[in-house]
Amino acid sequence: MIIAIDGPAAAGKGTLARRLATHFGYPHLDTGALYRAVARRLLDAGQDPTDAEAAVAAARAVTAAELQSPRLRDEEVSRATSVVSAIPGVRAALLQFQRRFATTPPGAVLDGRDIGTVVCPDAEVKLFLEAAPEERARRRAKELRDRGVPAIDARVLQDIQERDARDSGRSTAPLSRAADAYVLDTTQLDPDAAFAAALAYIATRAP
Ligand code: DC
Repeated sequence: MIIAIDGPAAAGKGTLARRLATHFGYPHLDTGALYRAVARRLLDAGQDPTDAEAAVAAARAVTAAELQSPRLRDEEVSRATSVVSAIPGVRAALLQFQRRFATTPPGAVLDGRDIGTVVCPDAEVKLFLEAAPEERARRRAKELRDRGVPAIDARVLQDIQERDARDSGRSTAPLSRAADAYVLDTTQLDPDAAFAAALAYIATRAP
């Protein structure tokens, strides 16, 4: 079974994906980390994230080991990632990696922006997570502060809104809900409640 989880930044995709993966005994791919690793490579090499040729070369060179780096979560990387992920050649270069991961038995959980629409349009389970921007900013700011990074809610909210606009507005594989996705609004849900709601839905898809 393939479980595809999409939604905007800080809607709770990662937490839910990890819990579902553990529950079903599947591997989990955070596809945002793939795009972040491309941006990290470019920044480390002093290259410009808008340089499409350099970005595509970086996307082809990314390895699974790079996805574990804590430096992928830096805010400068978040901003550059939103730019590189709009480059069609970068998305094409990362598609094969994602599809191979998804189709390896016995199943997989992938989270991102275009999993249910582009990467795995035939996934048995598609979840689309949403939450109010203010709540997402509060969560992301707390996550940053917990890691010792100073963060102001209002500034994080502005970043999230800019990123939402870029992720939804780009022409290649924009953030959008698959017609057959189950929408889960997590604004009022803690991680346990979101997990319970997702499991209840999955039971209806794969009894
Ligand atoms: O989920 P995240 O914050 O780690 O994602 C980082 C960026 O990567 C975000 O700006 C959107 C982009 N992304 C994407 O375009 N497609 C995906 N499947 C996953 C992430």
